[in-house]
Amino acid sequence: MKDLIISTPCLEDARKKSANQGIIFRDAFQIDNNLSNYLKSKYFYIRTFGCQANVRDSEIMAGMLTMAGMIQTDDYQKAAICIINTCAVRENAVDKMYGEIGTLKSMAKKSDVLAVCGCVCEQPSAVEKIRSTYPHINLIFGTHEVPLLMNYLKQIILDKYKRVISIKSQGGDVFENLPSKRTNPYKAFVNIMYGCNKFCTYCIVPYTRGRERSRLAKDILDECQELIDSGYQEITLLGQNVNAYGKDLKKGGLTFAQLLEEVAKLGIPRLRFTTSHPWDFSKDIIEVIAKYPNIMKSIHLPVQSGNDEILKSMGRRYNSTQYKKLVDEMKKMIPNLTLSTDIIVGFPNETYEQFLDTLKMVDYVQYDSAFTFIYSPRQGTPAAKKNDDVSLQEKHRRFNELVKTCEKYISASSSKMVGHVYDVLVDGPSKNNPNILSGYTESNKIVHFAGDQSLIGKIVKIKIIESHTYSLIGELYNE
Ligand code: SAH
Ligand code: SF4
Ligand code: F3S
Repeated sequence: MKDLIISTPCLEDARKKSANQGIIFRDAFQIDNNLSNYLKSKYFYIRTFGCQANVRDSEIMAGMLTMAGMIQTDDYQKAAICIINTCAVRENAVDKMYGEIGTLKSMAKKSDVLAVCGCVCEQPSAVEKIRSTYPHINLIFGTHEVPLLMNYLKQIILDKYKRVISIKSQGGDVFENLPSKRTNPYKAFVNIMYGCNKFCTYCIVPYTRGRERSRLAKDILDECQELIDSGYQEITLLGQNVNAYGKDLKKGGLTFAQLLEEVAKLGIPRLRFTTSHPWDFSKDIIEVIAKYPNIMKSIHLPVQSGNDEILKSMGRRYNSTQYKKLVDEMKKMIPNLTLSTDIIVGFPNETYEQFLDTLKMVDYVQYDSAFTFIYSPRQGTPAAKKNDDVSLQEKHRRFNELVKTCEKYISASSSKMVGHVYDVLVDGPSKNNPNILSGYTESNKIVHFAGDQSLIGKIVKIKIIESHTYSLIGELYNE
């Protein structure tokens, strides 16, 4: 019963900015017969924190475990394998992970494997803490090792290692043909690229996800076609930075605009993409969005700040004038465009005047929805080394002011919809009332309405009759 330490995270390696021409693995997934005999009919539990990249990784792990004959459960008390897929983007996401580790403690004797994986595991200090404080966690692996999950299970269950740790900090490979058990039967995320090369000074993602690497267009198109054939209504193309798609591919690869057009032509009813970096948002992408009715006229365009000095020290590569120009161009070329954004308040030493520039930006763009965050220092990033003379109390005050300003425009954009009819993709029964259905408009606003369960997974016409800041009430509309 010894530990097997395959590799541990290294921030120096993760920081290396050299382009990584990764290897494409097409047959990495194998299951050992003895392992699947052992796992067959046992339960697994996966708890996922963070963004869609993690959601997708969890779907792949669920796919592999299902292939091995296991059954997914939401009840960790039943599970032989428990996995916590973690997010490191802000401190509160990390805190949630420690809460979940505590919850799973009761399973230490009952489960074969208690695993922590995902972005937190790419941070050396967090891995040290998990190793020393939580002996019941017997598997720790990083974002680049997801395809190797079955190997680790074998090492623990059959080879009897007490604990396995495997985190390679400089991932640049692409794995195709992995099984996948998707969470939603109508809406799918499709990775088009992995990693990020932008290194915004506050952000941990480039360290946790490695360098930008694009999947080949053919692999992406084949996956989208399969989803269409099995009845999917909506595809979201996924990457930290989708408009940089293809930049790492050799000659003959597609650009993001070309890829978007090819996917749109396959005929999926709803096509989305996220996230866009304003810096790479070229005119040809806007033209493709405008041209295809099945590309949703709803763009997530994180601004982060409205002040030029702050944008510069964030390393965002655009200033407020360029951002506004891009927004103007988009609005001109795409009628009925809706925009959403991400904003950080309290970047180190942000003055109140600089913060007011962010409010001015919100007033200028009038976002239809916004994700707002208080800056959270991430160990290993350049911004975390800065002294900061702004108190947390002041940051909270500004945050509340920002939320109020955003809500003014979010409410206005929702109330404008009252009396009009919109296409809504029906998701399922509403959380609070099982007799009411919920779904999303093209602009990603949630609508609640009375309707039959048979409508789930369909796109229906809904007339909006009432609006709230974060939701709409509607009724089925018969032409
Ligand atoms: N690649 C995407 C998403 C990255 S993470 C993008 O560039 O937009 C999602 C959001 O989290 C970011 O847009 C940013 O607003 C926020 N974020 C990232 N690091 C943060 C930090 N250290 N503190 C607070 N918010 C952060
Ligand atoms: Fe983070 Fe910036 Fe990359 Fe987005 S573009 S993931 S904010 S480093
Ligand atoms: Fe979090 Fe990792 Fe995504 S840090 S936001 S889960 S890429």
